[in-house]
Amino acid sequence: MNVTSDSKKSDGQIRNFYAGKHVFLTGCTGFYGSLILEKLLRTCTQIGNIYIMTREKKGFSVQERIDRFFKKEVFDTLRAMNPNFTEKVILIYGDLCKPDLGLSTEDRQRLVNNVNIIIHNASVVYFEAKVSLILRTNVLGTQKMLELAAQCLNLNAFVYVSTAYSHHYTNPIEEKFYAPPCDLKMVEDIIRADEENAAGLSKEALNDIIGKWLNQYAFSKAVAEGVVEDFARRRSLPCLIYRPSIIINAIREPYRGWVDTRNGPYLLTLLVALGMFHLAPLRSDVISDYVPVDMATNGLLSAIWDYSVNRETNGPQVYNYASSDWNPFNMHDQSYTFFRAVDEHPLTKMIWYPFVLFIPNIYLFLLLHVFLHVFPAIIADMVLMIQRKKPMALKLAYKATKQVFILHYFISTSWIIKTDKLKTVINRLNTTDEEEFLFDMKQLDWHDATFAGIECLRYSINDTMDSLPYAKKRYRKLKILHYITVTIISMVVFFFLFKIICSSLLLISQ
Ligand SMILES: NC(=O)c1ccc[n+]([C@@H]2O[C@H](COP(=O)([O-])OP(=O)(O)OC[C@H]3O[C@@H](n4cnc5c(N)ncnc54)[C@H](OP(=O)(O)O)[C@@H]3O)[C@@H](O)[C@H]2O)c1
Repeated sequence: MNVTSDSKKSDGQIRNFYAGKHVFLTGCTGFYGSLILEKLLRTCTQIGNIYIMTREKKGFSVQERIDRFFKKEVFDTLRAMNPNFTEKVILIYGDLCKPDLGLSTEDRQRLVNNVNIIIHNASVVYFEAKVSLILRTNVLGTQKMLELAAQCLNLNAFVYVSTAYSHHYTNPIEEKFYAPPCDLKMVEDIIRADEENAAGLSKEALNDIIGKWLNQYAFSKAVAEGVVEDFARRRSLPCLIYRPSIIINAIREPYRGWVDTRNGPYLLTLLVALGMFHLAPLRSDVISDYVPVDMATNGLLSAIWDYSVNRETNGPQVYNYASSDWNPFNMHDQSYTFFRAVDEHPLTKMIWYPFVLFIPNIYLFLLLHVFLHVFPAIIADMVLMIQRKKPMALKLAYKATKQVFILHYFISTSWIIKTDKLKTVINRLNTTDEEEFLFDMKQLDWHDATFAGIECLRYSINDTMDSLPYAKKRYRKLKILHYITVTIISMVVFFFLFKIICSSLLLISQ
């Protein structure tokens, strides 16, 4: 990461904006939220307090969770700069699903008296979670956050972190409010119906409700955006909605390649690099949309600054953050760059030579899926069982297939996600802002981002740099084995085709 000289640092407009401001952040224990917190603490050193709302989970108290959380690698750079980096962080016990957010009277009062900026980032992000849980958390939780925001005495901005795909049925996706799928009354009716019996709503009933939305997650984000817009207009609350597309590994902050999620494209990328998954049910000219997590964080913090300082109207605003309309990266180039990166940084635990075939036809995809994934996984599990190890290949193949189908719509559509607002913000930045809050997609080198991603994949499965020579040797051997296998299979196929053609010709000639 570049280090800015002290003289330049003094005139950072965005950093100065956050000086003395008290921020309330939700969802900081998650992938994106942890980087928002880290960035605010590392770059905005003059910031006031950062209140973080966290809940008990899996038998761990809030304090236990937070103690473990601050030991995570995401804070390594910050810890090295300032070992007391948590002194501005104030822990607030709260849960979006509880009445009044589960806040104590004292905590609520502290927030009301002090907070200037609310970044509401917490959400259930699992696409197929129970609809009542998703709506309780993502919609009713947001409504409660807005009620709290309306009580705050010195609020500059309420930010709702949504997703670029909240209204995915439309393309291009503009930076505007779209009509929400339903109102709060209907949300409460759906929750009641889902909770009335243990099995929840049937798949058919759910599909009827969500209509043109692909899953309950996108549906809930669209309803929540509507709640924010409505509340902002009725109560004159300064609100902005920030919509990033699919968030991937960091390119430089807190360090190159950082990623801390097993969601999204992570598992698929890992299995492809391990040579365990070889098919993509899409065309290679598709432009899917990704943004590095550090740039998405900088975009968010810059959008808040821009909305607070430069806005011309008091109404709520939408800022998209995406790459397809700014610095597109099509599947063909993605795959080419990815395999070049794997070529240079192969994974030690690779089980076959990594390659991918783009098969848009779903029937052919399923046929090849059986040959390239299911059969090899059964054989691999049998070998594992003979070695008295736990079988896992079939389970992984199933997980990867499920992930392909969950993400299929999003990665197989050529998106145009408009990002005009943040493009305009670039004109208002000075050099210090540009350096400290880099979000200009034009400056993103996809080649470099992909290499960073692969280096981090290796790291995430404990492949150290020392293991690279061994991995490269293994990669070369697997490559030879792969091409020998392909040649033999092609010759066998050719031989049988030849036989069939000869017999047919013989039949015709008789
Ligand atoms: N990741 C992406 O590719 C992506 C793309 C576009 C938009 N987004 C948006 O970015 C935001 C963060 O996503 P993420 O990927 O970082 O998700 P994540 O890793 O799953 O984090 C979700 C966060 O929400 C918190 N949360 C969930 N339910 C809660 C509740 N009832 N009360 C309080 N906190 C609760 C979680 O806390 P616990 O630790 O207690 O569970 C966690 O901190 C979301 O709003 C998402 O829609 C993400």
